[in-house]
Amino acid sequence: MTAVLDARVCRPARIRALAPVVGADATAPITGSASPVTYANLDYAASAPALTAVADRLAGALAEYASVHRGAGHLSQVTTARYEQARETVRSFVGARADDTVVFTRNTTDSINLAASITPGDVVVLDIEHHANLLPWTRAGRARVVSSQPTIDDTIFALDAELAKAPAALLAVTAASNVTGEVLPIARLAGLAHRHGARILVDGAQLVPHRATSIASFGVDYLVFSGHKLYAPFGAGVLVGRSDWLDAAEPYLAGGGASATVGIDVAWHTGAARHEAGSPNVLGAVSIAAAAQALRAIGFERIGQHEEALVRRLDDGLAALPHVRPLRIFDDAYGRVGIASFVVDGYTPRQVAEHLSGGHGIGVRDGKFCAHPLLAKLGHSDGAVRASFGVGTGSDDVDRLLAALAELG
Ligand SMILES: Cc1ncc(COP(=O)(O)O)c(C=O)c1O
Repeated sequence: MTAVLDARVCRPARIRALAPVVGADATAPITGSASPVTYANLDYAASAPALTAVADRLAGALAEYASVHRGAGHLSQVTTARYEQARETVRSFVGARADDTVVFTRNTTDSINLAASITPGDVVVLDIEHHANLLPWTRAGRARVVSSQPTIDDTIFALDAELAKAPAALLAVTAASNVTGEVLPIARLAGLAHRHGARILVDGAQLVPHRATSIASFGVDYLVFSGHKLYAPFGAGVLVGRSDWLDAAEPYLAGGGASATVGIDVAWHTGAARHEAGSPNVLGAVSIAAAAQALRAIGFERIGQHEEALVRRLDDGLAALPHVRPLRIFDDAYGRVGIASFVVDGYTPRQVAEHLSGGHGIGVRDGKFCAHPLLAKLGHSDGAVRASFGVGTGSDDVDRLLAALAELG
């Protein structure tokens, strides 16, 4: 679907949501009005609403819910099978290699902290990252932070120089910026890391819900993402990747499930169990798998086209508002997912967000998006406003945002 012009009225054609989400009919109060309006959720990059398909699948799993990996009872076996099937669904969804390990975690932050606990050496990162892909590495005293450049080509050049300076175990990069939505060339970055004898970890939190991802064909060693940004908001995340570092490291959590035998000495499991001590979040894992299947059924080509049409509509609309200034990192990004951050002349980000919410029932995020170094670099240490969307968004939501921003001019 593209934002084609409707020939009769010469305005962009309406774009409908691609898939039903839970809460699409939610309403929000408006200041000074007795009647609420339909809530326009433009905060998908923080936490996306659940797909209806995910909620339905979850209801089925709840009806047969029991313990995992513990019991001989029928429902325990059914639930255990669901949990392990979810692992295989995720493996296939992200195009992992047959011998990769799929670990269920709490979220992307948790996954990267796990990665930090297994990585045997220095880690090269960019200064555009979400704190989740900075702080675990700086805390471990392993981070070598490279300054991003105005173009992706020059940024790759800078990474190349850093990797050449001294050996690094890992290059850890985001696949899509949580501030601007700009997409990075993952296969090129993987090639770069490997040429220098390093591995690559990709923070897929903002890419995996929006574009087809293939670990094997991109040449990625580790991929991490969160369920709650993948329309599966039930507290689970994923780390997928090469088994050797995972099996060689100490378990991320010590406890039952991670241990094979316990006496004076402990023998730890290998594989996913090594890093999943304690009772797992079965429903979180099942909902990630359900979301993966639902998104695949819609098709990432359609999802990409839908988002690109909405991004174009939003960008065109913002370009007509001289008091609104969008944020960009690169002059040559490889496309954008459904995220746009901007500042509005004469208003703080919080004032803009309050105007959108209180005056129009539109939910956006304001602040520094857990990317303080990037916001400072872009000259917006006081923050910005971020609108973000996905399969449950239609052009009406975007048009409402544009009309509300026009009032601030
Ligand atoms: C690119 C990116 N990485 C990591 C995270 C952290 O995700 P979580 O809060 O689910 O751990 C986010 C969250 O906004 C993100 O956008």
